Amino acid sequence: MSEPRSLKAQAAAHHLLVGFALNVQQLRESEAYRRLVAEQSSIAVAENAMKWSSLRPTPDQYFFEDADFLLQFTETNRIKLRGHNLCWHEQLPKWFGPTATAANARSLLTEHIRTVAGRYAGRIHSWDVVNEAVEPKDGRPDGLRDSPWLKLIGESYLEVAFRTARQADPTALLTYNDYDIEGETEYDAAKRSAVLLLLRRLKQRNVPIDAVGIQSHISAGGQHRYGTSLQQFIRSCREMDLEVFVTEMDVDDRELPRDVLQRDAGVAQTYRSYLDTVLREQNVRAVLAWGVDDAHSWLQAKRPRNDGAPHRPLLFDEKLRPKPAFAAVIGSFAAARPLPAPSAGQALRGSKR
Ligand code: XIL
Repeated sequence: MSEPRSLKAQAAAHHLLVGFALNVQQLRESEAYRRLVAEQSSIAVAENAMKWSSLRPTPDQYFFEDADFLLQFTETNRIKLRGHNLCWHEQLPKWFGPTATAANARSLLTEHIRTVAGRYAGRIHSWDVVNEAVEPKDGRPDGLRDSPWLKLIGESYLEVAFRTARQADPTALLTYNDYDIEGETEYDAAKRSAVLLLLRRLKQRNVPIDAVGIQSHISAGGQHRYGTSLQQFIRSCREMDLEVFVTEMDVDDRELPRDVLQRDAGVAQTYRSYLDTVLREQNVRAVLAWGVDDAHSWLQAKRPRNDGAPHRPLLFDEKLRPKPAFAAVIGSFAAARPLPAPSAGQALRGSKR
């Protein structure tokens, strides 16, 4: 077998984009990290630098240094950048709770979107305009999450966010991003239905929305299954003319044995079978892992393993060496059916990205 090529070269042969969520501190401090990212990726996203909590130290101040630094790096290296995110119930600044009211929330949201999406207009591949707005457990008939934005503005906040984003950056693909839509569980089925219901409502009202982000924080081993339901979901998106991006992929290995060889094999196999399923669908255009190396994965703090061993959820180890999961992703790209080049319309909106 020939040596695996870079992720980006293998992905490009199938008109796919591939990359990682980037940590700005690592990007500033590590030459090896910068080299690896430049070699391997055609798309990137800020893990935290473009969230409200990073950009909004006070109600009337913006902090753009990290986001600007990231964009400068990606542009220098011809890597497209996703924006994450403009509207979410988490990682809001501390001042938000005491400051936001029913009277000012709408203008807080629209001013933020105009300022942030406007600053980077024409330079962003796609914006996660709204993140995680659906939560069936909250018990509303429409499936919407009982988020601060919903409480303060009402359900029109989604429409407002997308319309404002389109005005501020007419070339970015506007994306709805969510999790727990991947699996074969009853809960994931409810979540998929509620997300599709939301997307249909938005489309019916001519709200500008171009794509769906499937976060893809998945798990290896145990009862976890990913397959036909996910494929069906992606097809439903396609029927609405929506592109699909795998936006935050990682593989939680808590249910795999501690042994590193076995664990790496299980994680790699999970990447392979998940991507094989997803890449069968032609509207899937990009795959991003949620981080570059295992040592910096959010899962280390978020969901530690019971045996205390560090998680191994990503494509590179703590020394930035490629793991079996890296080869698995290349293998899946190589096996993916060659895709037609994007249509003229898509090329226009996607050109800058
Ligand atoms: C996570 C980051 O990885 C962490 O560093 C941060 O502390 C919390 O947020 N879904 C999302 C991402 O949309 O923004 C989250 O990122 C992971 C879950």
